[in-house]
Amino acid sequence: MALVRIGGRRADGGGQEELLTEQADVAAFLAQHGIDYERWTPAHDVAPDAPADTILAAYAREIDALKARGGYVTADVIDVKPETPNLDMMLARFSREHWHDEDEVRFILEGRGLFHVHPASGPVFSIEVVAGDLIRVPRGTHHWFDLCGDRRIRAIRLFQDASGWTPQYTDSGVDKGFEPVCFGPAYVARR
Ligand SMILES: [Fe+2]
Repeated sequence: MALVRIGGRRADGGGQEELLTEQADVAAFLAQHGIDYERWTPAHDVAPDAPADTILAAYAREIDALKARGGYVTADVIDVKPETPNLDMMLARFSREHWHDEDEVRFILEGRGLFHVHPASGPVFSIEVVAGDLIRVPRGTHHWFDLCGDRRIRAIRLFQDASGWTPQYTDSGVDKGFEPVCFGPAYVARR
């Protein structure tokens, strides 16, 4: 399940971190920031590396429920591996602070990733998402995203309007003050 690090890991070594590891604490903290967090368990009996159509069919009930709740119209499967062509270029689009006109909804099938959220009030916090986690970061939320050291994530994405998902950069530079530290098998991602 997801882990939250309130205060993040500051690049200058300063600040205080508070780690949330209990699901109820994680969900309650994220809810205060308008972020939905759920575990979809037990996961469906479908291989995480199955073809995208198979995955979408297996999760059709959950996807339809989300669509009804959030007005999402399409779903797809994003698949990122260390050998993905132009991976660094792709990751660089999202590792700077940005926001979208659209909710960012992800259900993690395999691998892991690290969201940083910069709320309007309160400290920056990070959320490490792993397989079985559903997260909805509402439109307009300032955030950035990194892979962990294993550079692997496969996730279902939902869109209200895929054209709204273009990152709008804040150019605040806040992201540079934090290390993308994960707790998973391979700790620190390259940026
Ligand atoms: Fe984003």
